[in-house]
Amino acid sequence: MNKFTRNFPPREPTKPVQDRVEDLLSKMTLEEKIGQLQQVDASTIPVPDEFIAKISRGEIGSIINQTDPDICNAMQKAAVENSRLGIPLLIGRDVIHGFRTIAPIPLGQAATWNPDLVRDIAQVAAREARSQGVHWTFAPMIDISRDPRWGRIAESFGEDPYLTSVLGVAMLEGFQGNDLSAPDSIAACAKHFVGYGASESGRDYNTTNIPANELRNVYLPPFKALVDAGIATVMTSFSDIDGVPATANADLVEGVLRQDWGFDGLIVSDWNAIGELVVHGLSEDNAHAVIEAVTAGIDMDMAGGVYEAHLADHVASGLIDERKIDEMVSRVLRLKFDLGLFEQPYAQPDLYPPLTDKSAREIAYQAALESFVLLKNDADTLPLQSEDVRSIAIIGPLGDAPHEQLGTWIFDGLAEDSVTPLAALKATYGTQIKITHVPGLSTSRDRRHDQFEAAEAAARESDVAIVLLGEESILSGEAHSRADISLPGAQSELLQRVHAASRKTVTVIMAGRPLTIERDLPHTDALLFAWHPGTMGGPALIDLIFGVHAPSGKLPVTFPRSVGQIPIYYNHKTTGRPPVADDMVLIDDIEEQAKQTSLGMSSFHLDDGHLPLFPFGFGLSYADFTLSDLKLNHWTMRENESIKVSVKLTNSSVHAGATTVQLYLRDVSASVTRPVRELKKFRKVSVAPNSATDIVFELKPSDLAFYRRDKSFGPEAGEFKIWVSTNAQDGLSGEFQLAI
Ligand code: BGC
Repeated sequence: MNKFTRNFPPREPTKPVQDRVEDLLSKMTLEEKIGQLQQVDASTIPVPDEFIAKISRGEIGSIINQTDPDICNAMQKAAVENSRLGIPLLIGRDVIHGFRTIAPIPLGQAATWNPDLVRDIAQVAAREARSQGVHWTFAPMIDISRDPRWGRIAESFGEDPYLTSVLGVAMLEGFQGNDLSAPDSIAACAKHFVGYGASESGRDYNTTNIPANELRNVYLPPFKALVDAGIATVMTSFSDIDGVPATANADLVEGVLRQDWGFDGLIVSDWNAIGELVVHGLSEDNAHAVIEAVTAGIDMDMAGGVYEAHLADHVASGLIDERKIDEMVSRVLRLKFDLGLFEQPYAQPDLYPPLTDKSAREIAYQAALESFVLLKNDADTLPLQSEDVRSIAIIGPLGDAPHEQLGTWIFDGLAEDSVTPLAALKATYGTQIKITHVPGLSTSRDRRHDQFEAAEAAARESDVAIVLLGEESILSGEAHSRADISLPGAQSELLQRVHAASRKTVTVIMAGRPLTIERDLPHTDALLFAWHPGTMGGPALIDLIFGVHAPSGKLPVTFPRSVGQIPIYYNHKTTGRPPVADDMVLIDDIEEQAKQTSLGMSSFHLDDGHLPLFPFGFGLSYADFTLSDLKLNHWTMRENESIKVSVKLTNSSVHAGATTVQLYLRDVSASVTRPVRELKKFRKVSVAPNSATDIVFELKPSDLAFYRRDKSFGPEAGEFKIWVSTNAQDGLSGEFQLAI
């Protein structure tokens, strides 16, 4: 048992939380209240006495970035034993895709299209984190991300509001469980409210401009879904939206989140985002910024120190009513009570010692496996038959890069825990297959060609070359945006040289975002997109390559052919002049002195057409899946009625496999222009070799609802088209009428 736990028997845990909050609040001084609204960066170790003294005076309510259990417990002891009212500290940490056991980056988790798995991953992270003393994570990040230049796309679930909502809720359930006070639960935080993913040109922290209808129909729905599912906290964004930074945006925070949706949990600013209102040019100084943030509804100041500096003066001068402060503080206290911190405030590292739990690694393995997306597989290159392969060359900078396969935001994950593809290949096939390893480049950014001849030789002398390319972890994530999203360094050249020398080339790309890889495709026989797959990426990848399991991942985001196509996403509007295939003469085929209208007058790029490289929802398998027999049980949907859409999914191959069947909808005419397709339902199904299964989706009028021209929410009568498919670009189609 942890040495700290014994001293603290439960203190009135049966009294209703609201009574306990009010009791405590009635005893607090203004300074103690303001302390509760302060989150302080505690990353400086060892803990300075002054820090402990502040905690003891009740001036710090929450800390961030400290996960040493002994240090956390020492700080907690100061709060609980030395401060006048013994209010425990709330300890926050970015536990984004695992704590010690690292799962794929969230974008990779989205590629699994498997909410149960996303829930399990978050559960593992919650129990590892809580036992080390963390009570609160800043995830899930549910920003709709349609720009792969933006480094933070790695942290997102991609471009679709529905997929993001479903997976966001699953992650929230995994973190929070049924009871926040359980020793394996932590509070989750939906972020960044709202619109951050629309940062102009994909450059981090940049301005966003999102029209009101688009905000309601695309960017807000995941937040609404998580509020409805019981998210404990929400974080506001750094970015400004339509001229008002989110952290000062009373219309959105106080108006939409609090009043329209009834969210009564804790709202925290992003890191120093209140102080940054001055830099945005919205507030003349920090004192004014504090008024803006309090008015907008921000309860806690993350790492900015500006509430501490100015709130007391504002209360004294009457600019802020103390009752407002009480409201803010009561949300912090309520969360602390809900987390059971008054009963058990301490880290209990012995409860879930990291990496002793086999199930954590199994979940990380399964998550990696299901996140891989097979983008190309000419002539059934994959799976490799182990009995036919005598030699393999592992080439590329990411074949044995334990840190790089973990991805962004891995504060507590360790490279030494990673199993790389090279290590996994050696462990499983080392005695039967000759394995040669030539990185070819020292990092993904390396431009030197000096190892190319060795790489070519290894490829030439092996039955198969497995080339592991992509981006190092540091090239995506916060503040790591790119303008050119092709393979960095000399990786494309390396691939060309290896492909020319080898009999069979299998390329694996690990990256934090979609990359523009059109020019690389001809230089490989098979291509797997592996995102940053985490601790167990290596074994999962090797098992997939050798057909122990078949790939089932599907893209959660569109892959552009070029940066110039961005933004490109499947659920775009039709426009008044949608692309017409016959009109699309590309730049090299245009006749000299062609007439102004000779290329038609529709929406496409002369040099890239209008289609992406790979559409949303796309991903191949070793199994051959076909959909057939689409049936709708009614042609007309009436109020309080549903339509059943059924389809047959056949696997006509000798491989067992899973795929995700997707149902898309289009509202043909409405009071505002609607997307050409919107994902409404999906189901991931496993099908045995040479067999078939029936899938039924149910659509209700509420599935057809959207924010209309008059700003109300609901469906509109008329014609609807549907597609059932395995990606956003094709599929079986049908139609029905909504008569309400
Ligand atoms: C990020 C947040 C994160 C916070 C705390 C900020 O820079 O935008 O997403 O939770 O830091 O680390």
